[in-house]
Amino acid sequence: MSELKQNTFWDEVVEKVQANHKTTQPFFSMAPMEAVTDTIFRRVVAKASAPDIYYTEFTNASSMVHPKARFSVQGRLAVAKEEEQPVAQIWGSRPNEIAGAIKILSEMGYRAVDINMGCPDGTVIKNSSGSDLIRHPELAEEIIIAAQTGNLPVSVKTRLGFYKPEEFREWLPIVLRHNVAVLTVHLRSRKEMSKAPAHYEFIDEILAMRDEIAPNTLIQINGDIKTRVEGLKLAQEHPGIDGIMIGRGIFENPYAFEEQPNQHTLEESIALLKLQLDLFDEVSEDGTKKHFEALKRYFKIYLRGFAHASSLRQMLMDTHTTAEVREILTRELTKVYAAVADDKHIYRDNAIASADMAASRK
Ligand SMILES: Cc1cc2nc3c(=O)[nH]c(=O)nc-3n(C[C@H](O)[C@H](O)[C@H](O)COP(=O)(O)O)c2cc1C
Repeated sequence: MSELKQNTFWDEVVEKVQANHKTTQPFFSMAPMEAVTDTIFRRVVAKASAPDIYYTEFTNASSMVHPKARFSVQGRLAVAKEEEQPVAQIWGSRPNEIAGAIKILSEMGYRAVDINMGCPDGTVIKNSSGSDLIRHPELAEEIIIAAQTGNLPVSVKTRLGFYKPEEFREWLPIVLRHNVAVLTVHLRSRKEMSKAPAHYEFIDEILAMRDEIAPNTLIQINGDIKTRVEGLKLAQEHPGIDGIMIGRGIFENPYAFEEQPNQHTLEESIALLKLQLDLFDEVSEDGTKKHFEALKRYFKIYLRGFAHASSLRQMLMDTHTTAEVREILTRELTKVYAAVADDKHIYRDNAIASADMAASRK
């Protein structure tokens, strides 16, 4: 496959970022997150503070290519007209299915595909996919080669290793030798899940590997980076990082991608929640099955770090429809606004939001 074909999409991303800034900057992406980064949430984040790149939730290549299972993954791959085209993330273990899935993605209008080689989930591993491919590099290579026969630029998202982070010294060169367009490294081993701190100490070594083996491959760093500001600092400390991917940071702060961190009012947060409700209704009316219960997990993104936020959240946990949520908001918000009117907590407090998040994890 020609280099031009591999990289056009990503070249545009990099050029656009550089054109918007006076200094060299990495691109910022919102991480692919299962049951989170669908067309609804991507549009809410775009409204709050947009990253440069979005990813879909990961989608099973086998389901995509099987006529009977195809419908089951349509919702994951839905993209609204007004959205920026996200990168499609797929997973699988059969090279022919990966190639078939990419053909479908291309027909759907996707411009780039990412292959998941990092998912730690037991079911995915049992299917010889996700992070299991780190243990089976020959299959990983076959998958990349099959993917590159298609007409989309191919990127890979992976972890440092399966058992130990130091495995990256053997594993990453294998991927790099295929000149993937982007290599995203979640700086942990599979065994470390998301618990151990990300291994920033290996970044420079990874960048040197890239420079030597695949100078055209973009390196995107992922793990524990919560905001654009934190990502920029990391990129300054490690020259050569091309992209920064943020995942869970968005749960703590929907404005994680903001260039200049601003104070945000409760009213602005509620507006994001209302947008989420409206888009949920819009997508449901279009016939894509969406479960209301799944919507509840988003409430704490918007209602966090404010006085009275947790009591409002609790009320919303007992709802069953978007209409009920709107009703409670209309009824309760006047009281909440009145209560916080002279209080600095009318602004979102990210320190409180983080503490609140940590408490809810326990
Ligand atoms: C709820 C959730 C769902 C995820 N789903 C995916 C996925 O579908 N594909 C993927 O490559 N990674 C997935 N991840 C991993 C993230 O993309 C990211 O690598 C990880 O959260 C580390 O980044 P962070 O510390 O910025 O959150 C998921 C993570 C979370 C928290």
